[in-house]
Amino acid sequence: MESFSLKGKTAVVTGGNTGIGFSIAKLFAANGARVVMCHFNDQEGARELAAQLVQQGADVVTAECDVTDEASVQRLGEWAIHDLGPVDILVNGAGICSEVPFSQLSVKEWDRMMSVNLRGAFLVTRQFFDGMKERRYGRIINIASQLAYKGTTDAAHYCASKAGLVGFTRALSYEGAPFGVTVNAIAPGPVETAMLAGFTDEWRAMKFSQLPAGRFGKVDEIAPTALLLASETGGAYFIGQTLSPNGGDVML
Ligand SMILES: NC(=O)c1ccc[n+]([C@@H]2O[C@H](COP(=O)([O-])OP(=O)(O)OC[C@H]3O[C@@H](n4cnc5c(N)ncnc54)[C@H](O)[C@@H]3O)[C@@H](O)[C@H]2O)c1
Repeated sequence: MESFSLKGKTAVVTGGNTGIGFSIAKLFAANGARVVMCHFNDQEGARELAAQLVQQGADVVTAECDVTDEASVQRLGEWAIHDLGPVDILVNGAGICSEVPFSQLSVKEWDRMMSVNLRGAFLVTRQFFDGMKERRYGRIINIASQLAYKGTTDAAHYCASKAGLVGFTRALSYEGAPFGVTVNAIAPGPVETAMLAGFTDEWRAMKFSQLPAGRFGKVDEIAPTALLLASETGGAYFIGQTLSPNGGDVML
């Protein structure tokens, strides 16, 4: 469909070699974008995945980036400008999650969470935002979480980081919109990825019972929302929004 075409666009996806990020990277490439699949310490695995996509006709390259590290993010930005040219679309998909009761939550764990989920999005966005503004075109998509809205036990740090990302999205959209740069977020419900792999069957059953959908989502049920927000025409009138493919976990 023409209104969702990414032909001629370059997209950077952090966390692009796993889970939700990988699904987004694949869908963007299938819709014509050149995609930079950013990985964290997984050069071999990411290259293998990219090679498979390239074999299927996709235009995908990989890049290493620790989103918490200013110098690493700067290297990514400089490499992209030098080797790829302008970046039109950025997906801040990198994230971590942990369960810690608040009374046991250390400063170190709080800072680790903020560093990846919030500071990381800030650093990577800062790297590409001005270029998008100068070219008067850009699409920034932050992967938040439905827990930004509803919260949950033992995850005050995670929920705060994701709620911060929603605020970041709204605030930055005011600065981007006059220059054709849209900033939006996606707040998925629980999705079957490595992030949820460690949880017990009891926990999963309890979660299923709370979800109107009665199941966790699949990565391919999240990526189309990113495609909508990333597209030139279909996504143009979404400004500062947080869209919620969440199985009914939160209804806004
Ligand atoms: N799976 C879910 O239920 C769910 C629900 C809501 C939101 N999310 C969010 O979706 C995003 C993707 O998560 P996922 O579920 O696909 O899990 P995932 O573990 O597959 O993806 C997380 C990605 O972040 C990357 N990452 C972690 N630390 C990094 C760092 N310092 N620098 C660069 N990259 C780093 C990891 O390498 C990985 O690729 C995350 O932001 C997560 O919080 C996930």
